[in-house]
Amino acid sequence: MTRTLITGGLVVTAAEEMHADVLIEDRKIVALAATGSSTAAGWQAETVIDAHGQYVLPGGVDAHTHMELPFGGTSASDTFETGTRAAAWGGTTTIIDFAVQPMGGALREGLDAWHAKAEGRCAVDYGFHTIVSDVNDSVLKEMDLLTASGESTSFKLFMAYPGVFYSDDGKILRAMQSAAHSGGLIMMHAENGLAIDVLVAQALAAGHTEPRYHGEVRRELLEAEATHRAIKLAQVAGSPLYVVHVSAGSALAELAAARDQGLPVFGETCPQYLFLSTDNLAEPGFEGAKYVCSTPLRPHEHQAQLWRGLRTNDLQVVSTDHCPFCFTGQKELGRGDFSKIPNGLPGVENRMDLLHQAVVEGRISRRRWVEIACATPARMFGLYPRKGTIAPGADADVVVYDPETVQVLSASSHHMNVDYSAYEGRQVTGRVRTVLSRGTVVLDHGRWLGRAGHGQFLTRATCQYL
Ligand code: URP
Ligand code: ZN
Ligand code: ZN
Repeated sequence: MTRTLITGGLVVTAAEEMHADVLIEDRKIVALAATGSSTAAGWQAETVIDAHGQYVLPGGVDAHTHMELPFGGTSASDTFETGTRAAAWGGTTTIIDFAVQPMGGALREGLDAWHAKAEGRCAVDYGFHTIVSDVNDSVLKEMDLLTASGESTSFKLFMAYPGVFYSDDGKILRAMQSAAHSGGLIMMHAENGLAIDVLVAQALAAGHTEPRYHGEVRRELLEAEATHRAIKLAQVAGSPLYVVHVSAGSALAELAAARDQGLPVFGETCPQYLFLSTDNLAEPGFEGAKYVCSTPLRPHEHQAQLWRGLRTNDLQVVSTDHCPFCFTGQKELGRGDFSKIPNGLPGVENRMDLLHQAVVEGRISRRRWVEIACATPARMFGLYPRKGTIAPGADADVVVYDPETVQVLSASSHHMNVDYSAYEGRQVTGRVRTVLSRGTVVLDHGRWLGRAGHGQFLTRATCQYL
């Protein structure tokens, strides 16, 4: 047995903050004791990590990533190896990625393909949601089986992207009925894709080809309308609902109204919607392509509404929707036609730091930071308390975080396999110092000590947030 001791830091969980030493045996946290207490003084360990002046946090849980996703005529540029390494650099020790059901195929085929991409390559632990692109009788049976086995207990459906991932309302209702029965969680990309496609065609016909039109045609009202419809369909089916990448204030208002009625409806937003806006999409030349994602960035007034939603718990989770495409050769596919710009932004490495900046600026508390980035995503997707907290019995996924160091986010220093940063030049206070994944130090003082293949696949319970 190997013992590791983290001494003198401020342990921050979603529930409390305490100056405590953390004792780890092999892969698990076994005990916490007040720093300076006789209990802590009696502990001995092979490895002692001095965390005085630092925060000691549970490793981040990013519940929405797309490594190597084939999308928009190309593939997301981070592999499971590069993407999970970058995640660890940014203090995230668990990702949940999306295995895609091939059109006309089984969910099993998608999961097998994603296992093959990820197995033996990840630096930190990982799980899979399933993207259901074709609801039919056998897929509904598969959803039940996957939920029961824990291989994938959450399923993403799309009201957007007709001809790619889109499901009509009848298919969505059937999937929700199945989830209501089995305990699976339906995740929804809520945008009215059929209406958006009409507006895209009209914009292009009018010669509006620049990136900023991506934001204009994907109207806020069409996110709010789809969010409302998804909520009503979930209510009819009697299923809980998790709406991914909420960007519009009016869509958030739909979630808040449903929650006020007591409905089990949850929402996720992403750093790009909290820190970026349509101003970025309108950057000169083709620069705006760097910020093309769906749901799209919104005018910056929406940011205050999203922050408020995070404070009031009308939004429960901040994930990244990390889906990187290089500017050169990938985003460029849409020069002269914004609808051909692959949709997605890089961010898996930046989430914990950007949210800490929100702590520094007084937008959220330290405990809320840990709650929305670690504890609640773990609970929402059936990984708690193994992930998302610092407590006896939890996996020793621990981040020692320096709250004082100032850093500048940049493509020249990040570890994501993408040739630009969506946050280029942004100064933030706070930086990851040491990262443990299941008791193994994978990063320390800017030195990478991890390895591809250390990360293990996680089976999951059903949603623990209901
Ligand atoms: O633009 C995005 N969000 N790309 C990834 C696919 C999705 O809809 O999450
Ligand atoms: Zn989506
Ligand atoms: Zn996504």
